[in-house]
Amino acid sequence: MKTLGVDLGERSYPIYIGNGLLGNAELVTPHIRGTQVLIVSNETVAPLYLQQAKKAFDAYQVETVILPDGEKYKTLDILYRIYNALLEHRFDRKCTLVALGGGVIGDMTGFAAASYQRGVDFIQIPTTLLSQVDSSVGGKTGVNHPLGKNMIGAFHQPCCVIADTSSLDTLDERQLSAGIAEVIKYGLIHDYEFFQWLETNMDKLLARDTEALTYAIERSCRDKAKVVALDEREGGIRAILNLGHTFGHAIETGMGYGEWLHGEAVGTGMLMAADLSQRMGWLSEHDVERVDDIIDKAGLPTRAPASMSGEHFMELMAVDKKVEAGKIRLVLLKQLGEAVVTEAFDHNLLQQTLIAHRTIEE
Ligand code: NAD
Ligand code: GLY
Repeated sequence: MKTLGVDLGERSYPIYIGNGLLGNAELVTPHIRGTQVLIVSNETVAPLYLQQAKKAFDAYQVETVILPDGEKYKTLDILYRIYNALLEHRFDRKCTLVALGGGVIGDMTGFAAASYQRGVDFIQIPTTLLSQVDSSVGGKTGVNHPLGKNMIGAFHQPCCVIADTSSLDTLDERQLSAGIAEVIKYGLIHDYEFFQWLETNMDKLLARDTEALTYAIERSCRDKAKVVALDEREGGIRAILNLGHTFGHAIETGMGYGEWLHGEAVGTGMLMAADLSQRMGWLSEHDVERVDDIIDKAGLPTRAPASMSGEHFMELMAVDKKVEAGKIRLVLLKQLGEAVVTEAFDHNLLQQTLIAHRTIEE
């Protein structure tokens, strides 16, 4: 097992990464203050891992909530089911919530923990690659609104993150690829050496080679933890973790939550950001080809949906947490391995990117 740290002063916490960690009481016990534990999972993950995961909490009163599965259920309405369970079972302020699932369960459980009785503890047990490399780390929690992705939420750090790599065995290929999108992101924004490693080792990741996957998870978490430690609440540098997300969130919202997976939309979005970065004169044609190749090799879509017009994109991109004083701010690439957050991009060039990427029929 590898243990990494997220260094946030009194809110610091460990990330445990390894094979067969589910059910390990020694990992969770030091992070639980009270006697009550609520495990939140969904109808896909619970039959696979709930029984095993529960073993870690044998010493506590354990209740469970099983939510419907899917991005379209990441809503305030469904969140209520978690509050209902907490109140029905009289959970107190020392209780601990446990998120057992992918990023949807992690974000929702985290937000429930952030808001129940003005904030209680929670533990992340991410079971998708995407959630192990990204969403379980850093404390962003929340739900979607019909008009905008992740628009309702809070920063609330977990007490620990337990990434059991063996849970990835049951993940389907599409979900694995979606997770790889966020892994590629770290290489593109500030870890060029990792980007090169990914170019060489993508086949191993797709073949679920344990050593390669563990290395990618560890390096991604290390990269993310570094950025989060510098800027926990995204006053500045943390925004680079959103490479491809302004385009991607527009695709997710525009197509209807769940049609495009988050990682798929981010993958295409990163390519659109690279395209615009080339039009800005920052990346070379060869750089963009390399981004295109790696996204394609990861099994991710490389073009935005043809059904979304440029106007539709612009309308949705204006509903983004990076917007300031009505101005869209984008994460672009100065070079491979170096991201910038800027509002000083040429809007005509953005239009060209939107046109160039709408070439696939649905
Ligand atoms: P997800 O939670 O929808 O999980 C994907 C699918 O895999 C679901 O059907 C789920 O039930 C299933 N699943 C989960 N674990 C499994 C397993 N081990 N075996 C088989 N199936 C399994 O999606 P995701 O890709 O994990 O996360 C995407 C969400 O995360 C989005 O809502 C996105 O906005 C959010 N996100 C948040 C952050 C953050 O910093 N908080 C960062 C990135 C993404
Ligand atoms: N996924 C972006 C962030 O955590 O900031």
